[in-house]
Amino acid sequence: MNSQPLGAFRFYDNHPQPADFYEEVLRGLQHRPKFIPPKFFYDEAGSILFDAICELPEYYPTRTEMALLNQHAEEIAELIGKECLLIEPGSGSSQKVRLLLDAFQPAAYMPMDISRNYLMNAAQQLSEEYPWLEVHATCIDFTADMVLHFCPADIHKVAFFPGSSIGNFEPQDAAVFLQKVVKMVGEGGGLLIGVDVKKDKAILDAAYNDSQGITAKFNLNLLSRINQELDGNFDLDAFFHKAYYSPEAGRIEMYLISKTAQVVTIDGQRVSFEEGESIHTENSYKYTIGEFARLAETAGLELVDVWMDKEELFSLHYYQVK
Ligand code: TRP
Repeated sequence: MNSQPLGAFRFYDNHPQPADFYEEVLRGLQHRPKFIPPKFFYDEAGSILFDAICELPEYYPTRTEMALLNQHAEEIAELIGKECLLIEPGSGSSQKVRLLLDAFQPAAYMPMDISRNYLMNAAQQLSEEYPWLEVHATCIDFTADMVLHFCPADIHKVAFFPGSSIGNFEPQDAAVFLQKVVKMVGEGGGLLIGVDVKKDKAILDAAYNDSQGITAKFNLNLLSRINQELDGNFDLDAFFHKAYYSPEAGRIEMYLISKTAQVVTIDGQRVSFEEGESIHTENSYKYTIGEFARLAETAGLELVDVWMDKEELFSLHYYQVK
């Protein structure tokens, strides 16, 4: 008989406000320069394309970060200590955390995601694979709030934020997010975070312009979503994907560019494009270790340790609340 107690599975619903897709798209397309908020990338097709991006040979961040997590899990576990409450905002499929669970032996894992069904399935699956693990899944928009529905007194709280998702915030918004993490994990709490680093432009450009055109499909999927869900008539062949690293801004900028002068309608609303006009769809900021540690420090976090691969492609940082 297995004497280990079975971990509980709980699901909490914070009823996150769904974004108004129509309202936000029109506002962005009426703005100069035009933009569409990146949160709309992730419908079902977008999520599948994103998973495919993570497997691309040119897209080094995922495999490099996973290797770092794998190699250093025990060492990080030593720093963190056993029996923590491990919280993952924007947990998606909870793949990366699997590399940590055996070493960390957390008292409980709390995945948080806005996507209710996806979270429910991912958390349930994880709970079945790790019968000893207590899982407290929370459906929440972590950019709006990060309430802990399960939080025993004095439990050591550690947040996990992989994938360099922090790079998709503007730096000042990244600092605000880190402040919220500090508030959530409290005094003595920790943060394990993956941060993509500044490097040779050619490597960065290739990572966001793969030879199979998957990133282009992911970007253009925004337009097909607008067609399907908002009665739009974008011709997907009349736009192309463009992404490049700007060393001045320290970020990848991603755009959809109109090949010709054209007028598109969205539920009867006309939006005109000049030839070569762009829609800004995402940024991905890159940080040196020092730059990121300083940003984290402004939010009240102190760098405890940092790990990097030999080629210095990606960094994994562990912080403690000061
Ligand atoms: N945060 C990761 C990055 O910036 C993953 C990501 C978010 C991404 N949006 C993307 C990757 C768009 C490619 C294209 O790299």
